Amino acid sequence: MKNLENQVIIVTGGASGIGGAITNVLAQRGAKIIAVDINDEAGKKKEEENPAKVVFMKGDVSKKSTAEEAVKLAVSKFGKLTGLVNNAHASRQKPLMDLTEEDWALSFGTGLNATLYFMKSAYSELSKNGGAIVNFGSGAGLEGQKNQASYAAAKEAIRGLSRVAANEWANDNIRVNVVCPMALTDGVKHWKENFPEQYKESKDKIPLKRFGDPEKDVAPIVAFLLSDDSQYMTGQTVMADGGSIKLR
Ligand SMILES: NC(=O)c1ccc[n+]([C@@H]2O[C@H](COP(=O)([O-])OP(=O)(O)OC[C@H]3O[C@@H](n4cnc5c(N)ncnc54)[C@H](O)[C@@H]3O)[C@@H](O)[C@H]2O)c1
Repeated sequence: MKNLENQVIIVTGGASGIGGAITNVLAQRGAKIIAVDINDEAGKKKEEENPAKVVFMKGDVSKKSTAEEAVKLAVSKFGKLTGLVNNAHASRQKPLMDLTEEDWALSFGTGLNATLYFMKSAYSELSKNGGAIVNFGSGAGLEGQKNQASYAAAKEAIRGLSRVAANEWANDNIRVNVVCPMALTDGVKHWKENFPEQYKESKDKIPLKRFGDPEKDVAPIVAFLLSDDSQYMTGQTVMADGGSIKLR
């Protein structure tokens, strides 16, 4: 399937985890990717696997300059930007009362601020030919999961921002949607080690009875939201979670 031919897409956190899977799947479907990540080793590997389609840019998404640089790189390498995936997000899981200023800054810096910086930096290029943005929310935010205060708050802020942008930027032909995934990545494995009971509770609640596969279960939904197949969808939250949460 080559439904992303001629697209140029920035994927934050595009070196590993769900972002790494998104980079692979979008490239398979014909897109050129700028994968922005702090993990130098994983990023270089990703570029080496597919040098014709993937350009790795090392950068911390919580810095505005990283977003500006990524958009410039997309235009200088591939002549345009048509899509943006705000996937990177780092946070620490602790009871609400134990979270420090630094913990809050980490989650809001890499989650909400980064999403806003990349959206604003990409706006002018995306509005030239029409474009699509996919931001990342979480079931932890929707459900208010214990030990996830800084993360849940940032994720719900991202959903609010996405709905406003969907309304404001519809006239510019820019669509903005949110994906809430559930997939077995290193981040989830780490959470499983720290909070085994919560992990089991989440897994037991999945109607499809398994944590998703980043490449087979989550990345194709992101690809759909970036393609013309979803041209009549904006401002939506799409659950890629095996049926765990049913939004109404
Ligand atoms: N895995 C899940 O089940 C799940 C559930 C709900 C939501 N999510 C969301 O999906 C997205 C991807 O999750 P994941 O599990 O693949 O995460 P992950 O932690 O496994 O991977 C995140 C990627 O982002 C990169 N990154 C981290 N901080 C960065 C920074 N400051 N600048 C640039 N890159 C940075 C990492 O190096 C890594 O490549 C996140 O937004 C996460 O919150 C995941």
